[in-house]
Parts: sequence; structure tokens; C-alpha cells
Amino acid sequence: MNPLETLADLERRAELGGGEVRLEKQHAAGKLTARERMERLFDPGTFEEIDKLVTHRCLDFGMADQQIPGDGVVAGHGQVDGRQVCAFAQDFTVFGGSLSETNAAKIVKIMDMAMRVGAPVVGLNDSGGARIQEGVLSLGGYADIFLRNTMASGVVPQISAIMGPCAGGAVYSPAITDFTVMVRQTSYMFVTGPDVIKTVTHEEVSKEELGGAMRHNETSGVAHFAVDTDEDCIALIRDLLGFMPSNNLDEVPFAETGDPLDREDEALDALVPASPNQPYDMLDLIHAIADEGGFLEVHRHYARNIIVGFARLGGRSVGIVANQPAHLAGTLDIDASVKGARFVRFCDAFNIPLVTFEDVPGFLPGTVQEYGGIIRHGAKLLYAFAEATVPKVTVITRKAYGGAYCVMSSKHIRTDVNYAWPTSEIAVMGPEAAVNVLYRRELETADDPAGLRAQKVAEFREKFANPYVAAARGFIDEVIRPRQTRAKLITALANLETKREKNPPKKHGNIPL
Ligand code: HXC
Repeated sequence: MNPLETLADLERRAELGGGEVRLEKQHAAGKLTARERMERLFDPGTFEEIDKLVTHRCLDFGMADQQIPGDGVVAGHGQVDGRQVCAFAQDFTVFGGSLSETNAAKIVKIMDMAMRVGAPVVGLNDSGGARIQEGVLSLGGYADIFLRNTMASGVVPQISAIMGPCAGGAVYSPAITDFTVMVRQTSYMFVTGPDVIKTVTHEEVSKEELGGAMRHNETSGVAHFAVDTDEDCIALIRDLLGFMPSNNLDEVPFAETGDPLDREDEALDALVPASPNQPYDMLDLIHAIADEGGFLEVHRHYARNIIVGFARLGGRSVGIVANQPAHLAGTLDIDASVKGARFVRFCDAFNIPLVTFEDVPGFLPGTVQEYGGIIRHGAKLLYAFAEATVPKVTVITRKAYGGAYCVMSSKHIRTDVNYAWPTSEIAVMGPEAAVNVLYRRELETADDPAGLRAQKVAEFREKFANPYVAAARGFIDEVIRPRQTRAKLITALANLETKREKNPPKKHGNIPL
């Protein structure tokens, strides 16, 4: 073979991965191959592969005779909507996508490059875990990746897709990254699998029940998104990247919008029901104010009492955090606090302004919450909002009670602009609860306790359950008409575009983990 033929032969072998039969098996399982995934991730013709000819160095277990160029991972960089992104895709057709010393080195190389050039990292995981034939060399490779994930955290966005098995310590790379997407039916994540669990705890559980996409989207919160197919997974990652700057020194991307900046929505004036205990869907407000009504919800299936996700306002990305009165009355519980805190910190790390919509009756009461450490977990959300130095704008739509008032991006924790709708009730607690505490003795001895209670509740509501006491103190900058919310937010964010705020110098804070 002449030199060009030799190169072409090596490249062809790399592209064939584990061979036709295994590639077909991959398709039969409803999965795309590693190369097909990478082709879909990047803009056509922009993918530049690195280390295509890397081979493993293992001599044991007959491995010396089984050399596949590329060694089970496709790595490189390319463009997503014209912006540079680094990525790797584990190739399940080559030794089950298992992690060897050399393919870990490829992943490390592309992550190091991402850090140097300030590009996001996308990891497409589909692997049987540590390459058993390589023992501790493979474990070392994982640890090298975990270190890069940690160093890259807050420097470049990191997105993990789980598109096949992901078990053992391998799950900790996705866990350190910013967002995890799982494909329904074909992916799972767990630290120890069903067989080990059966031996140790005698529990019987299937892979899907233990660590399938919905388990991690609904129950554990380990994953942020669930999608039906590999194609949907890649499309979602491309959308998600569109909201983020490429790195922590970059500005949020701008997307041209035809949606008028001063568009009013009359329906918002009637969004909050007359009865304070009647729920409404906070998503209606988010869709109403966002450019073209677009909202990419993160963690949609988890802790539904809080909503987090990305939207655009006047073309610029914003991170939205909102209580959801339609679920658990919008109370803050452990899961909602952790979900909110992690999202707030992502946005703050990547210069994405935070818009908070507040309707919160307080923290969820009960022994489950107290024993579970709601004090510690609720403090995470408080800490995250307080620490955030990005532009912060809050709109109180209805209830802002108690500690939750302070936590939800209140003026006191450095929120730049605090709006309230006229329907706001800003108080230490709701009128009924307040009257029970303040008038307990009178109510016990009253001839007509129900009448007295109604009278006192009305008095309390009149005095405190409105935005005007807070507005008189300047805790609320302006009481706004609901229909004008979009215009008000866009103007506030435009004003805050040049915001400069720094926290005191420190090695790092000690968020209550
Ligand atoms: C080497 C592996 C492998 C591995 C799979 N293969 N896992 N080779 N090391 N870890 C190979 C298989 O031998 C097979 O080769 C091919 O990949 C496809 O595997 P199948 O078993 O045929 O596929 P499937 O039935 O779909 O099952 C997939 C699987 C299973 C569930 C992932 O392969 C499996 O249980 N693998 C072992 C998982 C494991 O215990 N890994 C180590 C975990 S500990 P052929 O030649 O037949 O195609 C760990 C520690 C990480 O990862 C710690 C980090 C800190």
C-alpha cells in the first residue's frame, strides 16, 4: 500500500468501530452509533476529529490482537450554530465503549483543549464502564476525567448525555457536569446494579426501575431532561447550548427576535385568581413574557413546585426561577431548594441574568422535611441567590411569606430590581396563620370564634397582605401592572447589562452541602 492508501485504510478501520455486526446491533437497539451522534451534534462539515488512530496498550487477555483505531471513543471539536464546541462520544461497538487508559487520555485531551479555548464540553456516554482487561489503569483514567470535570466546572458549560449504560463510578463524570440528558428505554445510570443490590440488600429491581431515564428525572433529580430518541437528545443539547455563553468570560448569546419588546399581555391582569388559595399555572406567565413564548424547562419532572429553565427576553438568554402554585401550592421543600440552588449557581457562573417569579406560601411543613434537613437544603437556595452577582430581577405575583420571602431573590440579598403585582401579599405568614397565633386566647374564649376569626383575618389582609408596606420601605422598587411585565423586565435587564458586582476575595465559600 502506498502512504495515502495506508492512511485511508487506517481511517476506514477507525470508522468501522467494532465492525458491521456490532454497528447493526447498535441500530437494532434503537441507538445511533457514536459517529452518527457526533455528525448530528455539529453543524454539517465542521467536525474535526482528534486521536482517530489511537490504540490501546493492553497486552493481557488476548487484547494485543484486538486493536481498533480510535479505541472506543470518538473525540473532537466542531461548531454548534457557528460556535466552537468540544465533544466526545463513547463507541459501544468497541469493547462495549469501555474506558481504557488510552481512550480516557483522548477524553482528557479534548477537555483540556475545551478549557484552553473556552468552549463547552459535550460528553455522549454509552459504555460498559471501566475496561475490565485494564484494571486500575482504567480507574485512573476515570479519575483523570473527574478532575477535568471539576476544574472545568464554572469555566466552560459541560453537558452529559446518557445514551446507553452508565454504571459504577462512571456516573460521577455526568454528575459533576452541569446538565444530564437521558434517553428513555435505552439508557440507565446507577452506582451499583440490580445484581449487587440483590446480593447486599435482597431488593429486586430492574435496571429501568433502578436507574432509567424517568427514575432519574422524576425521583432522584440526577438527570435534568428525558428524551425519547437519540435524535431528540442531540437536538436538545444543541438548543441548550444556544442559551449559554461559551465560557465564564463570554457574554450570553443574542438571538434576533421579532417579538416587540414592549408587548403587553392583557390576560396577565387576570392570571392570579381572586381566591388566595386557588392555584394557577406559573408557566402561563413565563410563556407570556418570553420572546416568542419560548421556554426550555430544566428538571421538568423533578420538584415541580419550583420551575427553572431558560428563556430569551429581548434576544438575550435569562435563567428563570419560579414558584409553581399549581404544585404543592408552590411551597419550597428540600428537592425544590436544591433544584433551584443548582440552577441559580449555573446561571451565576455563566453570566446569565436571573429572573425570579415569586408566589410562595413558605417552606413545606412536616417531620419529613425537618428530619430530611430542610434547614440545610433550604439554605442552599438562600446562599445561591445571595451569592449571585449576575443581574437579578424579581417579580412577586402573589404570596411572599416568611423566610421564603427572604430566600426568593429579595431586595435584601442584593437583587437589583424587585417588582410586585398589585395582587402581592408580602407578610411574615398568611392571614389565617397569623390570626391563629396573634389571637389564640381571644379565639378560645370568644362567643363567636368564627366571626372573630373572619374579622381579624380581614383586618390582617387589609393591613399586610398587599405590596404597599414593602413598597413604602423600598423593598419593592415598583408595583407594576401584570400586563406590562415583559416590557418592565426587558427594560430592567437592559439597564443592568453593565452591572459590575464582586463578592469579597476568598478561596471559595462554604455552601451548606
Ligand atoms: C471490557 C466490555 C465491558 C467492560 C462490556 N464489554 N463491558 N469489555 N470491559 N467493562 C464488551 C463485552 O464483552 C462485549 O464484547 C461488548 O462489550 C458488548 O457487551 P454485551 O455484554 O454483549 O452487551 P449488552 O448485553 O448490551 O450488555 C451491556 C452491559 C454488559 C450491561 C454494559 O456488557 C456489562 O454488564 N458489562 C460489564 C459492566 C461492568 O461491570 N463494568 C465495570 C463496572 S465498574 P463483544 O466482543 O462480545 O462484543 C466500573 C468502575 C468505574 O466501571 C469506576 C470509576 C471510578
